[in-house]
Amino acid sequence: MLGLHPYVDEWKRNLLPILLPLAFLYVITKNPLFVALALALLGFLGWPWIRSKLKITRADGPLRLEDGLAVFPKGAIAVLKVTDVPFDYRDMGGDALRDKVNMFYRSINVENDVTLVMRRTHVDKSEYLKELLHTAQNLRITVEADPSNQQARRKLDIIQKMIDKLNEGEAPFKFEFYVVIHGKSAEEVRSVSSVVRSALSSIGMRLGNATSDEVSRLIGMNLKGGSKPALPSQLPFLAPFSFPKTPRAELRLNGIYLGTEMEHGTPVFWNIDASQNPHLLVLGPTGSGKTEFLLWTSFKLNVVSGLPILAIDVKGDVRRRLRRNGIQHRVISPLVNGLGLLEVKGVPLEVRAQQVEGILANSFRLDKYTSSIIYEAVLHVLRESQADRTSWDHVMDKVMSNDVRYTAYIRKVVDSVKFLEVGGSIVDAIGDGINVVDLSLLKSEELRRLTTFTVLVDLMNKYSSETPDEPRMGVLLDEAWTVLRAEGPDYPLVADIVKRGRGHGLFAMIATQNPEDLGEEADVFLDNVGLMVLLNNGDRKFWSSAARFANLTEEEVDRHLLYMGRGEALVRFLGDPRPMRVSLDVPQRWS
Ligand SMILES: Nc1ncnc2c1ncn2[C@@H]1O[C@H](COP(=O)(O)OP(=O)(O)OP(=O)(O)O)[C@@H](O)[C@H]1O
Ligand SMILES: [Mg+2]
Repeated sequence: MLGLHPYVDEWKRNLLPILLPLAFLYVITKNPLFVALALALLGFLGWPWIRSKLKITRADGPLRLEDGLAVFPKGAIAVLKVTDVPFDYRDMGGDALRDKVNMFYRSINVENDVTLVMRRTHVDKSEYLKELLHTAQNLRITVEADPSNQQARRKLDIIQKMIDKLNEGEAPFKFEFYVVIHGKSAEEVRSVSSVVRSALSSIGMRLGNATSDEVSRLIGMNLKGGSKPALPSQLPFLAPFSFPKTPRAELRLNGIYLGTEMEHGTPVFWNIDASQNPHLLVLGPTGSGKTEFLLWTSFKLNVVSGLPILAIDVKGDVRRRLRRNGIQHRVISPLVNGLGLLEVKGVPLEVRAQQVEGILANSFRLDKYTSSIIYEAVLHVLRESQADRTSWDHVMDKVMSNDVRYTAYIRKVVDSVKFLEVGGSIVDAIGDGINVVDLSLLKSEELRRLTTFTVLVDLMNKYSSETPDEPRMGVLLDEAWTVLRAEGPDYPLVADIVKRGRGHGLFAMIATQNPEDLGEEADVFLDNVGLMVLLNNGDRKFWSSAARFANLTEEEVDRHLLYMGRGEALVRFLGDPRPMRVSLDVPQRWS
């Protein structure tokens, strides 16, 4: 009977055939019983009509339902569905996120009543996987039949990646987010909905009309009920920006094994070939495991790719560990093998003179004036002398023959260099496998820097002319502060290796304690290294400076990062600001 409501015409049609005979019977019999009966019927059947006249109708069901719209007797709703939010809150710094959230609430805070509805629904994993495998099978057949079908190939690629993720342990779910706009008429809600849609698209959210099925499902829900009221200024948590995402699969599913991701327990690799920049930077306080991680990683690199490794061993502990772990290696000492600074190989004389100037300027922290005197003298000696007669004595003679000040200091520098000129060069002694340049016997920091810079420059000369785009050697630079703090913007040697990416044929693995150790060129390292590994560190200041290049929230720092254990690290892949927490792979004896 309620089916009559609220169509008044229908009500009249249904009621008249009953009321008319009753009136007729009353006229004939004059029996008031018929009047009472008619009134009772009127009261019972006509109540919905009376109710609608008194404007107390409940909008039980829609009069009209279509994509993105439902019209009720007393008003209408427009329903938008969020189809994509192409980033999440971890992609933004604190301020940017705050701005986005503010704009989100401003966008939906129109005069009309706007309801946000979020649905997260369960998906049967094995069914879903079966479906994907089936689709993949069909696509494979399509691709085999027509290898030029790029679209099918791409689809197959995507499906395969999804299958990989499911096999890695990710659980599928469906997530829907709706914006429901209430108003008096279809026209009104439609126009408000298009305003809301374009406002939200300006902060990167894409929305479309919900299908009529989706609209009808939402009507079944109680859109008004639920949690406590809140004001826009209280900024409740913004769900669409909180999709969990991980770094690009091709960066972390192949290559050198780094360890296991701590949230899901999935293995993490580093694919140097897919990385924009091949260099690795490890930051962590003393005892956090930097040296172990670097050594173990470079050993794996050598085994997996056959790349020769050169480790600069400042404290002598690299050599000790290799010996303890029974890993074969070649020890090279500057005291035995020499630097060969005045040897010119593969570069013009002028370039060599500049290189020598840069190496000495950084190693001995020379001012521009002093270093340019050395440059002139070196260039003169390289030009004038026979190859076998170039020596630092000649350079000093040349310096003395000019009328220059501070010759005493230049003599001190030249004497130090002479100390390491024993007729050969470290680079010539390097072979395949793992090489260790032992600096532990050099007691002065200047000589350690001198050796390190010379080796790096000579390796760059050797490899950049050969196959420039491929790493030819892995260089392990532990305790990097020893050289980097001295590196200035005039001769940024290591910073240049990092900045040039693959350009020098070197693949640098650098470890130091703090971002400040990276010297004046710190930003070059932080912005360019392909892989950054931040080891456990209880220092909040460390994490707040790390937040600048690893997109961390304060909450993440508080909840996870301040309390990481030994061998646990935050790992950031270049080009993907979302870092992962990884329990690093260590040699067997610790597990
Ligand atoms: N992943 C790990 N799991 C467990 N123990 C580890 C791990 N890495 C290192 N260690 C232990 O911690 C000790 C310190 O590690 P390591 O010498 O590599 O630290 P470091 O950061 O290089 O320190 P320093 O700055 O003093 O050189 C190692 O001797 C080893 O016993
Ligand atoms: Mg160490």
